[in-house]
Amino acid sequence: MQVKLSNGKIIPIEMHKIKIVQKARLAPIGERLTAIEGAGYNTFLLRTRDVFLDMLTDSGTNAMSDNQLAAMMVADDAYAGGESYYKLLDSVREVLGFEFCLPTHQGRAAEHLLAKVFVKPGDQIPMNYHFTTTKAHFELCGGTVHEIFCDGALETTSTNQFKGNIDLNKLKALIEKYGPKKISFVRMECTTNLIGGQPFAMGNLREVSAMARKNGIPVVIDTSLVSENAYFIKRREKGYENKSIGEIIKEMMSYADLTYMSGRKSTCVRGGLIATNDKTFFNRVREWLPVYEGFLTYGGMSSKEVEAMAVGMREMCEYEVASSSADLIQYFVDQMVEAGLPAVTPAGGLAGHLDAMKFLPHIPQSQYPAGCLAAAVYLVSGARPMERGTVSMDRDKNGNDVFSDIELARLAVPRRVYTMAHMEYVVDRLKWLMAHRDLVAGLKFVEEPPVLRFFFGRLAPLGDWGSKLAAAFKADFGDAC
Ligand code: F0G
Repeated sequence: MQVKLSNGKIIPIEMHKIKIVQKARLAPIGERLTAIEGAGYNTFLLRTRDVFLDMLTDSGTNAMSDNQLAAMMVADDAYAGGESYYKLLDSVREVLGFEFCLPTHQGRAAEHLLAKVFVKPGDQIPMNYHFTTTKAHFELCGGTVHEIFCDGALETTSTNQFKGNIDLNKLKALIEKYGPKKISFVRMECTTNLIGGQPFAMGNLREVSAMARKNGIPVVIDTSLVSENAYFIKRREKGYENKSIGEIIKEMMSYADLTYMSGRKSTCVRGGLIATNDKTFFNRVREWLPVYEGFLTYGGMSSKEVEAMAVGMREMCEYEVASSSADLIQYFVDQMVEAGLPAVTPAGGLAGHLDAMKFLPHIPQSQYPAGCLAAAVYLVSGARPMERGTVSMDRDKNGNDVFSDIELARLAVPRRVYTMAHMEYVVDRLKWLMAHRDLVAGLKFVEEPPVLRFFFGRLAPLGDWGSKLAAAFKADFGDAC
């Protein structure tokens, strides 16, 4: 939530008390250099003992509530028919308005099942923007992903409040070109991750849904970040100021035929699910659920997480919860902008993002500017970002790099984990890095898996820039930090 201080300044304020804490350690710069070198300049390969602020992701790293933890204690560990599932089903019915629910062990497992059931070779899947695992699953089944985002969605400095909107003309053109039968479904992703956590508007979703349904095409919403998207609709879209987060989520879902989610984000648990009102869809997915995930009543999740998800699903409808990380991100982004850093604007819903091509304009895309920036940020701050640029794109069939539309270094803000002081510290180190950015050079792959290479790929710096950057940092700050 935000509060206005008596001097007019608006700050994010925690609407929770911190009852359990995890000790953090800021490894000195020398150790951080050794760590990033050992990780092949890939922040995924760092160990958390070397990380001060883990801003790699907001997935599975959120603080759970006391009620969620309490619910875990009463979990029913049955293989089949477990009561925990029925509590989750009640929450899904109440919050999402869907009758049927299939739990999965996480979001990509839901994508896997959807791809298996709905995507045939030659199928087309229009969406506002891809997510890495989504694209991988749909393409592995022979589908083609079409990103039909609105004008300006890829402009990193913007005042467009809804960069996650779909361009309806592009959707119409795709339907005309391929015919509705070739389109598996239209996918709308809440708080669109890879373009900087940018929401779509309710008005846009309504129109997308009307067009798809008129043509007999199902609408699928990726609800991984649904509470943040609902929060942005409330804050930014006319007519929704007085609606509750719960009402907004319900309306969003009314435009979908099926939804799936990674529960690791908005619901703060390690799990996922698919939900629908369509019995045929439900049955088709259910056939495969025990093959890949587990029996219907746990779907690969631990029953403790199923219980916690039932609670988290309701809690994400609270204004204080839906706004908890979005408002801290807003503060973080405002601070970055004030410091002259090229942050993605408007502030999004899962992270503060830096435009690496603006931060490191001397590094061409062939040398992975977002990867360089992510590694450099870790080096100078101990905060661990994630590369969301060309490293996160796999090569094409001819072995050429596919340059990402935008090159982002993402500093995720897990829910209820970090504070304003953490954000101010990171911004300070980013400012220092900006002043020394000429020291940073490119990266090249030395080990490169063919699929989702960003997870395990190893890179090497072109020139010894890591050491040079560390030496300059040490000269200014000494050994200790
Ligand atoms: N959809 C979206 C929009 C996501 O952001 C993610 C995961 C998934 C699907 C896959 O879910 O991880 O539970 O299997 N995003 C994480 C991230 C990994 O760091 O942004 P998952």
